[in-house]
Amino acid sequence: MASENLNRPEGAAEDWTIAQGWETYSSAEHAMWDRLFERQAKMLVGRVAPEFLDGLDILRLSRPGIPNFDELNERLMKATGWQVVAVPGLVPDDVFFDHLANRRFVSGNFIRTPEQLDYLQEPDIFHDVFGHVPLLANPVFADYMEAYGKGGQRALAHGGLENLARLYWYTVEFGLINAPEGLRIYGAGIVSSYGESVFALDDPSPNRIGLDLGRVMQTGYRIDDYQQTYFVIDSFEDLLERTLKTDFAPIYAELAGLPAHATDTLLAGDKLFTHGTQDYARAKALAA
Ligand code: PHE
Ligand code: FE
Repeated sequence: MASENLNRPEGAAEDWTIAQGWETYSSAEHAMWDRLFERQAKMLVGRVAPEFLDGLDILRLSRPGIPNFDELNERLMKATGWQVVAVPGLVPDDVFFDHLANRRFVSGNFIRTPEQLDYLQEPDIFHDVFGHVPLLANPVFADYMEAYGKGGQRALAHGGLENLARLYWYTVEFGLINAPEGLRIYGAGIVSSYGESVFALDDPSPNRIGLDLGRVMQTGYRIDDYQQTYFVIDSFEDLLERTLKTDFAPIYAELAGLPAHATDTLLAGDKLFTHGTQDYARAKALAA
């Protein structure tokens, strides 16, 4: 994850990486991983893209305990040439993009506490590794993530950071895919969330819309609750091809200064999978 205006903590290398410190996890921390893993693995059957389950398998992520990055990286390197590196938390945007562009995925090294079982503000190692890393074992998704990192470097130069961040949010974090078996989840923010892995797929509240690049890059998102809109891709190949073939610079220029669409907006050209009721969001807003 990336952010602005950060100071590199003492002990972090120039590229913001730190040692994972696998030896220092307590048995309670390993048990927390196992608890989250077991709960989520059950939940995901029939809900997650098959490529994600393949990744769990290839990387042997079902073994007990918090994964040791050295071991995980051996398998990941063989599969797609990606690596996971530990960082202290959020890193600056340029650092984040540089890692992705070089096939390094940054991960927090801490795990949530029992009080944070279902909600935490900063991504922990369960979100980062369980949520993100399985798809990095898929060659097509692996290429997409590298291309995204390179795209990030371009976005910084073209003032398109906010637009490109929305693409990350609605694909890498909260994406749905129209798989041959039916709609499936693949975004890491959904896949690592007990509640949202049901909500995103089954709840009548959110909109589900076919992904259009310009549309996504003009759409705001929620960081405080379940999404009000999810965007659906046809396949990872299609996502990769479309993002590679499209020059984003003119899109950034066109969108500059335009207001973002609200998180629940529907537009005339939207390819609707679900016209959401927004009942969930409305009830939450009333209760607040
Ligand atoms: N084609 C994009 C650009 O012109 C780069 C990109 C590729 C961005 C893949 C995201 C994902 O900037
Ligand atoms: Fe994430």
